[in-house]
Amino acid sequence: MACGTSPVETSGQMVLPQATCHKPGRFHEPQATRHKLGSCHKPGLFHKPRATRHKLGECVEEEFEMTSPHEPTNTHILSHRFSYLRPGSLNEALALLKDHADARILAGGTNLLVDMKLGKAKPAEVIDITFVPEMRGIEERSDGVWIGALTTIREIALSRFLWTSYTALAEAAAAFGSTQVAMRGTLGGNVCNGSPASDTVPALLAFGAEAYLMGSDGERMVALGDLLAGPGQVKLRKGEILAAARLPKVAPGTGSAFLKISRVHADLAKVSVAARLSRDEAGRASSVRIELGSVGPTVVRARKAEAALAKQPMSDEARLAAAQQAAAEIEPIDDVRSTAEYRRKATAALVHDAVLAAWSRTEMEVGVGPRGEPPKAPLRDVPSLAVDAEELVDISLTVNGETMEIDVAPNELLLNVLRERLELTGAKYGCGIGECGACTVWMNGTPVLGCLVFAVSADGADVRTIEGEAANGPLTTLQQAFIDENAFQCGYCTPGMLLMSKKLLEEIPQPSEEEIRDYLKGNHCRCTGYASIVRAIEKAAGGMG
Ligand SMILES: Cc1cc2nc3c(=O)[nH]c(=O)nc-3n(C[C@H](O)[C@H](O)[C@H](O)COP(=O)(O)OP(=O)(O)OC[C@H]3O[C@@H](n4cnc5c(N)ncnc54)[C@H](O)[C@@H]3O)c2cc1C
Ligand code: FES
Ligand code: FES
Repeated sequence: MACGTSPVETSGQMVLPQATCHKPGRFHEPQATRHKLGSCHKPGLFHKPRATRHKLGECVEEEFEMTSPHEPTNTHILSHRFSYLRPGSLNEALALLKDHADARILAGGTNLLVDMKLGKAKPAEVIDITFVPEMRGIEERSDGVWIGALTTIREIALSRFLWTSYTALAEAAAAFGSTQVAMRGTLGGNVCNGSPASDTVPALLAFGAEAYLMGSDGERMVALGDLLAGPGQVKLRKGEILAAARLPKVAPGTGSAFLKISRVHADLAKVSVAARLSRDEAGRASSVRIELGSVGPTVVRARKAEAALAKQPMSDEARLAAAQQAAAEIEPIDDVRSTAEYRRKATAALVHDAVLAAWSRTEMEVGVGPRGEPPKAPLRDVPSLAVDAEELVDISLTVNGETMEIDVAPNELLLNVLRERLELTGAKYGCGIGECGACTVWMNGTPVLGCLVFAVSADGADVRTIEGEAANGPLTTLQQAFIDENAFQCGYCTPGMLLMSKKLLEEIPQPSEEEIRDYLKGNHCRCTGYASIVRAIEKAAGGMG
């Protein structure tokens, strides 16, 4: 494999084939304190825990007993118990996978936790690879661009390099349904979830991407399309992990585009299309590739549509012919998101428009994509940890500036701990499966959905909740603007809206209305106060400017 590295926008030391030693490393004994569930003074998940708090900067320890006048609410909806294994390196992850071949890998968890909550996945062990540093980052090399499997969707959406050379992929990431989900969800998770509606997959296929797979028995490169076996199924061998994707270099005169139709912005595709083509010296389309999402059991390559365009002078007739071919060569289904008939018609329209956009980009500079800052990489040097399904383990959390130790079971969620154990009820329980944004808090400077983060994964994290805003002082400019503009009615969505808006203004101090609406697309207001929320954010931006 050729080397010649020229790093571009790397947020980690990505493991690449020639640099890899995949001998399983020693899995360190965890150092955390643990208790067997029910075997000590702590009767169960909702015992009244004793916590140790440290005020930041003062180092004063204060023992206190947390009590709750309330019974637990239904925020604790993950009843399935599992062992939690946290490797600190790729070698450790591979060693764990060798020993626990049926374990489920947890990357961002935006699919896996939802499946576990809905009872679709019941793994005995979960291997949390969040802190594996070697699998993150975007690197340009002599043989193309390598993207680590743990690279987040938001990092891809904000990569200027990808917008310039692999536009359809960046566009697919930018089309993701919710900002919080894109900040936590990963490329590897999007591929390995095996959904025909996964946004990055048609784009990866359009560029002829390969998957770099690692197992304790070795490594292999396969065409990414060969991994896809059907809805929710990928052909990974036992104990294998997707470490990275490689996209071959694009030829000069190449343009690409990704288009998606969904019921609302914050949703999976009804239909998606990725098109990539090159312009030859005679002004004809060459090397055409069209991939269709959500219209079959896996992403479908539209070969007849490609043939209708290849080696032809580009014209609207050629595009319409390709669109008709694409609609004719798919077999979509009726489901909760759409009907087969609509999907067929939408496919034709999207193929026409995606080819048009891709063609125009063969000779036109592409813009730099959305503004914003990619989420911070997770903490480094997090020690390995193994917690049995029946155990409680002490984790350390700094919440709104106070550091405390809390004992949690592997299946407890950050939202539970905040609301029920620490009585910080500002973060709300809405849907429980990542779709409403009511549970948004900040973790290590990045907004996360508390309902989709295991508390044990948050060990060592700096967490900010709405209670930390203006805790002992005047309201923040944003809070005041929400009041001035009547940007809440029942107030249920407001803590999540405020914490997302705060991050938006940190990333883009003067956002346009379109940017505000896009950034907040994963935060739902059941009172539909969106217009006043947008006004409040614009007002706060003005006040801050
Ligand atoms: C509200 C909401 C909106 C969403 N919107 C979109 C959208 O618009 N478009 C879209 O495509 N998806 C969407 N999703 C789905 C999901 O967010 C993405 O598929 C995301 O990229 C998954 O990444 P993850 O890291 O969270 O995966 P995880 O949930 O951690 O993992 C997903 C699956 O892949 C496996 N896995 C993860 N990483 C690896 C690896 N490196 N090697 C082997 N196996 C691995 C896991 O075991 C699991 O089976 C949405 C989800 C939610 C909850
Ligand atoms: S409760 Fe977490 S997103 Fe709805
Ligand atoms: S103000 Fe009621 S949910 Fe938004």
